[in-house]
Amino acid sequence: MKLAPSILAADFARLGEQIAEAERAGADRIHVDVMDGHFVPNISMGPPIVKSVRRVTRLALETHLMISDPDSYLEPFAAAGSDSFIVHWEGNNNLHRTVQRVRALGKRVGVAINPATPAEVLEEILSDIDMVLVMTVNPGFGSQHFLKSTLPKIRRVRQMIERVRPGGDPNAEIEVDGGIDAATAPLAVAAGASVLVAGSALFGESCGIAAAMEKIRSAMAAAVS
Ligand code: DX5
Ligand code: ZN
Repeated sequence: MKLAPSILAADFARLGEQIAEAERAGADRIHVDVMDGHFVPNISMGPPIVKSVRRVTRLALETHLMISDPDSYLEPFAAAGSDSFIVHWEGNNNLHRTVQRVRALGKRVGVAINPATPAEVLEEILSDIDMVLVMTVNPGFGSQHFLKSTLPKIRRVRQMIERVRPGGDPNAEIEVDGGIDAATAPLAVAAGASVLVAGSALFGESCGIAAAMEKIRSAMAAAVS
């Protein structure tokens, strides 16, 4: 199980410090939420933030594009230091082309689906991607409640991966994003998730980032024992 802190919930005045704390505490990658005010009703950050973050961490920078025209921004983000991209199925009439463009940049690629989107839309793209991101809230904002109705879908994505990639594929990840905390992480992992994105549950806790990461890890350990 991997943890990907989402810096959307970080204190931007102390961003470098908070990322360093997450890295020391064993974060697996940094999740960067990019929003354009069109694809989702919120605006967040662009390539300059990735460029600054790139200088302060060795962790992989995963860029979640919640924007209307992802193709136009792949290059600027790659040049700034993004290691992987997550693009949405929704609103993209040429998803296969977008995926190939990410590949041409030599980056890893994941496809995200919103809560109302069925797992089945991924069938034809699954063998071309490294990761599926199941949104467990509607994209656009941090601190929303985890939608339990997405759990059966996580299970269906896991089954689809087994089917499309016989014998399973250790590199095919299922990531979940939204409302992940010590209570919901075990549910998502039991359903088949292998990477957990968490924003407010890590950066919004008064106990600090390392202790908040530990809380999620021990909740997972308690759930399997
Ligand atoms: C939501 C973003 C998430 C968000 C998660 O649109 O994609 O990555 O930062 O935040 P929490 O963990 O607070 O739900
Ligand atoms: Zn995200």
